Amino acid sequence: MSASEIYSFLAQRRSSSVLVEPRPDRDTVEKILQVGGTVPDHGSLKPYRFVVVEGEGRETFADALVNAGLEAKGSLEEKKQAKLKSKAYAAPMQIVIIFSPKENEKIPEWEQMASASCTGYAMVLAANALGFGAVWKSFAFDPGSLMTRTFQLQARERVLGWVNIGTEKERERSSRSPLDLKKFALYVDGKECADG
Ligand SMILES: Cc1cc2nc3c(=O)[nH]c(=O)nc-3n(C[C@H](O)[C@H](O)[C@H](O)COP(=O)(O)O)c2cc1C
Repeated sequence: MSASEIYSFLAQRRSSSVLVEPRPDRDTVEKILQVGGTVPDHGSLKPYRFVVVEGEGRETFADALVNAGLEAKGSLEEKKQAKLKSKAYAAPMQIVIIFSPKENEKIPEWEQMASASCTGYAMVLAANALGFGAVWKSFAFDPGSLMTRTFQLQARERVLGWVNIGTEKERERSSRSPLDLKKFALYVDGKECADG
């Protein structure tokens, strides 16, 4: 792949909303997870871990999502429960990203969270590069007891959502408008005081 093809791959990336089987096989999933492990990581603390949910495991995930909603709210209408459940079936598999901060005097928790967050984007790109669609999703509640047990969550760990992965049903990649760099980028190049 040429440098300009790699640039286009990055510049044109889009999330996929409709994902179906086939999902990546175990070897491919492991390739995606390995790319998750390449993110910038101050002190190489690896402040993250992953849970792969696939196939019938989605039933457990669906139950855990509903349980989280019920424990957060006390009760939930059937419709809301169904909506939470459907998140687990939006794709044939999910890679759940767990922020797992490490005790460290020099590297604050926010840096570790930044590093863990990069894994989501890295795995979306890796899935795309391997021919699969992907999208990062999340939910609005604390994990609840069932998810805590299922994902073996420890005291300071947090669920940063999950990456849905599968085959794109149809390519619905609309182009995105480019960033207005006048608003989003500031150059400090020694010329910034030229007018004053
Ligand atoms: C941490 C995180 C959680 C997200 N959760 C959701 C979500 O629950 N639902 C959703 O529609 N998009 C969610 N998104 C946004 C999508 O992943 C995606 O970026 C968005 O649909 C825009 O598509 P694009 O990536 O092609 O620009 C989340 C993104 C991040 C970084």
